Amino acid sequence: MIPINIPKLGEEEVEAVVKVLRSGIITNALGAGPMVSAFEKNYAKFAGVKHAIAVNTGTAALHMAVVAAGVKSGDEVILPSFTFVATAEAVVMAGGKPVFADIDPENYCLSPVAVEKALTKKTKAILPVDLYGWPVEIKPLREIADKHSLAIIEDAAQAHGATRNGKPAGADSDMACWSLYASKNMTTGEGGVVTTNNDDLAEKLRMLRTHGEKSKYYSEMLGYNYRMPEIEAAIGLVQLEKLPSFVATRRANAERLSKVLSKNKHLKLPREPKGGAHSWYLYTVRLINGEEKERNRLLDELKKRGIGAEAYYSNPVHHMPYYQKSFGARKLPETEKASKQVFSLPIHPRVTEEQISEIGESLLQLLS
Ligand SMILES: Cc1ncc(COP(=O)(O)O)c(C=O)c1O
Repeated sequence: MIPINIPKLGEEEVEAVVKVLRSGIITNALGAGPMVSAFEKNYAKFAGVKHAIAVNTGTAALHMAVVAAGVKSGDEVILPSFTFVATAEAVVMAGGKPVFADIDPENYCLSPVAVEKALTKKTKAILPVDLYGWPVEIKPLREIADKHSLAIIEDAAQAHGATRNGKPAGADSDMACWSLYASKNMTTGEGGVVTTNNDDLAEKLRMLRTHGEKSKYYSEMLGYNYRMPEIEAAIGLVQLEKLPSFVATRRANAERLSKVLSKNKHLKLPREPKGGAHSWYLYTVRLINGEEKERNRLLDELKKRGIGAEAYYSNPVHHMPYYQKSFGARKLPETEKASKQVFSLPIHPRVTEEQISEIGESLLQLLS
């Protein structure tokens, strides 16, 4: 089976881990041992911002960022439902209310028009997602946020290597949250990062990461233990160096696959954003006017042929039992339509040119 995503690890990562183990320093109580500090410095440079705060998952990164933005009980946060559930979890864990807004069908990201409609007096923040690695268009969201004094927390979990307006994704949001989970463009196994240009937010985030402390055993706010272990940071340092080549291979694979699939008129293919770059975390096609049954048949048939095609996200968050029970039903027509029609195909750096042809030709056959 060609998996939809799989980490690419080499001897460099093995050596880096062994070195940490031999050093005897595997964590640091106040949040940043030597490896974590070095990783944060390099990550901030990569993300084009002043601060990077490394944590142990992308979910922790999102939770901390929502808390740091000042979201409290009763506050509303506008976010897409067409995302991984962690985006919404972060809001609920902070005590806030997730207000799901619809997507722009052109890029599957949060629609600024829908955000405007979802605003209330209780809105505290906007939480857009760079879905599949497409850097969400930030300008219209920034205008809304500035007009209503809202924070923008960007879920950049899937956006390593994406750019917009000449900057890395996340650089022009108040905070951006990254995941380093095993499937992502770069990984530490599990892991996450919050990036920001704001000194006050950075200080708050560092405290939230370690029990609300600036100094040991002196909690100044409610905090957590969201620290990244030294071994993970050591892997992250190596993966960060390899990231440009990983993204270049993903891009080349995406271009090859698009060349094959462009012969079929029933598919809407992914593309690069104007004036920016996709991270190509997921190569997601859409069955134009397709039925969910037909999409699922294609997924089953591709799997039978050893191609790990997947539908992200066939069950949008606002349809999940917990969210429906807790926050009520909501109609999101574009989200609901897309969730029935999209599916993703493997293009990760371990997929060969030959396999790309096989994936493309198999899908063309199944569609004919
Ligand atoms: C869009 C999105 N948000 C949040 C997360 C959560 O990250 P993690 O799995 O590292 O907690 C993920 C990844 O799984 C994701 O894809």
